[in-house]
Amino acid sequence: MLHRRRFLTFLGAASVGLVARAAIAQEPLPKVVVTKDPSCGCCSGWVDHLRQAGFSADVIETSEINRIKVRLGVPQDLASCHTAEVGGYVLEGHVPADAIKRLLMEKPQAKGLAVPGMPVGSPGMEVEGVENDTYDVVLFGPAGQKTFARYRGVQQV
Ligand code: CU
Ligand code: CU
Repeated sequence: MLHRRRFLTFLGAASVGLVARAAIAQEPLPKVVVTKDPSCGCCSGWVDHLRQAGFSADVIETSEINRIKVRLGVPQDLASCHTAEVGGYVLEGHVPADAIKRLLMEKPQAKGLAVPGMPVGSPGMEVEGVENDTYDVVLFGPAGQKTFARYRGVQQV
């Protein structure tokens, strides 16, 4: 009986240790630096979405957003409104926070993620009374482009 209790105590202590270690292993999310046009409202909606998901974000406003896209190597066919940088990657458009977290975890060899255009229902692009689009989150880089995930609203489908 004594043994059993000791074993249970040991189990309890071990699981507390595991939880603590898991908490330490979880790295803080890197900051997102967003460049947007001062007159763009949906961009601010996207920044709010990122902050709600636990990211901190700095916002830079410029009326020459295309220059940044060229400098960061965003392919023209993937262009959207805002462009951002996080953890060495480029983000173009209304990329869901979950997809960014997966990108940072999996660290694929690529330039970044893009949601081309402005799909209705992508974070920051919610339109009341309009049905959400299904859209692709595209992984792009020197190796080309491929679908990283498909979303409808903020849900992966
Ligand atoms: Cu937008
Ligand atoms: Cu935008």
